[in-house]
Amino acid sequence: MKTLYYKFMAFVVTWLLRLLPRNAPVVYKGVNSALVLCEQVAILGFTRVLIVTDNFLGNSGILDGIKSTLTTSSVEFVVFDGVLPDPAFDQVQAGEAVYRSEGCQAVIAVGGGSVLDAAKMIAMLHTNPGPLKSFDGIQKSKKPGATLFAIPTTAGTGSEITLAAIITDPVTHRKIPVVDSKMIPGYVALDAEIMKGMPPGITAATGMDALTHAVESYLSKASSEATEIQARAAIRLIFKYLVSAYRDGSDMEARDGMAVASFYAGAAFGKTSVGYVHGIAHQLGRVCGTPHGNANAMVLPEVLAAYGDCVYPRLAELARLVGVGEAGASDSQLAAQFIQAIVDLRQEMELPLQPKDLKAQDIPGIVEEALAEAGGLYPVPRYMSADEVKHIVTGLLAA
Ligand SMILES: [Fe+2]
Repeated sequence: MKTLYYKFMAFVVTWLLRLLPRNAPVVYKGVNSALVLCEQVAILGFTRVLIVTDNFLGNSGILDGIKSTLTTSSVEFVVFDGVLPDPAFDQVQAGEAVYRSEGCQAVIAVGGGSVLDAAKMIAMLHTNPGPLKSFDGIQKSKKPGATLFAIPTTAGTGSEITLAAIITDPVTHRKIPVVDSKMIPGYVALDAEIMKGMPPGITAATGMDALTHAVESYLSKASSEATEIQARAAIRLIFKYLVSAYRDGSDMEARDGMAVASFYAGAAFGKTSVGYVHGIAHQLGRVCGTPHGNANAMVLPEVLAAYGDCVYPRLAELARLVGVGEAGASDSQLAAQFIQAIVDLRQEMELPLQPKDLKAQDIPGIVEEALAEAGGLYPVPRYMSADEVKHIVTGLLAA
C-alpha cells in the first residue's frame, strides 16, 4: 500500500518538476566574473543593492573587489552579514527589513548554500507578504521575488540554479522546504577567484554534494536527455578536478571546473530531484548535525551498492564516462568499479566516515524519516525496505 502511495507521489513530483515554468539565469563564468556581474548590476539600472552574506565572509576581504566594482559603477550598497548556517526565519526577516528600510532595489548574494538560500527567501519575502510559513511547499508565492544576483563561494550546493531553499522554523525547529521556480536567481557568477579561499575540507564535502546531486539525478526516474547531459558533464568534471581543487585551492582550472560542475549538477537535480542518499543525509544533519556534503559522502557508495542490479547499466555508463573499469567488463563489474572509484575519492580527501554522536537509539527515527522523505518526494530507481536503509545507517556506527 505504501509503495503505491510512493509511486503516486513520484509520478506527481516528476510531472511537477517537468511542468514548472522556470527562467534560466544569465551566467557569467571565469576568473573575476563576479566583478563582471557587479558591472551588469549598474548596466541593468540598479543604483542601490543589498549584499547578503555571512559574518565570516563579510570580514574576510572577499567582498572587497565586489564593493569597489559596485562603487566604481555608481551602485550604492548595504551589507547584511547576519546569515547563519541552516538559516532561520529571523535572519530572513532581518535581511528583508534592511532591504526595505534602506530602499534597496536588488539583492546580491555572496556565500555558500545557506547564504544563497537566505537571499532567495529575502528576495521572495520582499514581494510576497508572508508569513514565511506560508512558503512551505511547492509554488506557494504569488509574485516573483526581488531581482537576485548570486555569487556562490562554494562549489556544491547548486543553490545558484535550483528552485529550492531550506529555512528553519525557530519554533518547531522544522526545516521548511520551499520549492518555487520564481526563486531561481536571475544572474549568476561562477568565479573561481571567489572560491580559491575555500578550505580543503569544505572543498571536499561540497564537491561530494555536487557529485551526489549529479549521480542521484542520473539515476532518477524523472531524468531526461537534457538532465542526463548535465549530470554526465558534472560527473566528468568532478572526477577530473575535485581532488586537484582539494589539494591546491589556488588551482584556478580545477576551481573553475568544479564551479561549472556544481552548476550543471544543480541544473540537473533541480529537474529530477535526488534519492535515498539525500533522504538519509538530511536525517544525519538533523539528528547529528553532520554537514550536508559530509553526510552525502558517508552514504553515497553504500546506497548505490544497495540499489543493486536495477542501477548497474546506469552506473556502468558512468564508469565508462570517468574511465574506470576494463573493456569487456559486465555492467555489474563496471558498476562495482564506479562505486569503488567514489570510495577512493572519499578516501583520497580523507572525508570522515562516521557522523559524530550517532547513537544506536537514533537509528530507528533516522530510518523512518529517510524512508518517508525518499519514498514520498523522490523518483528513486527503486524503493528500499526499512531493513535495507537500517543496514546502511547501522554501517555508519561501525565504519
Ligand atoms: Fe545536496
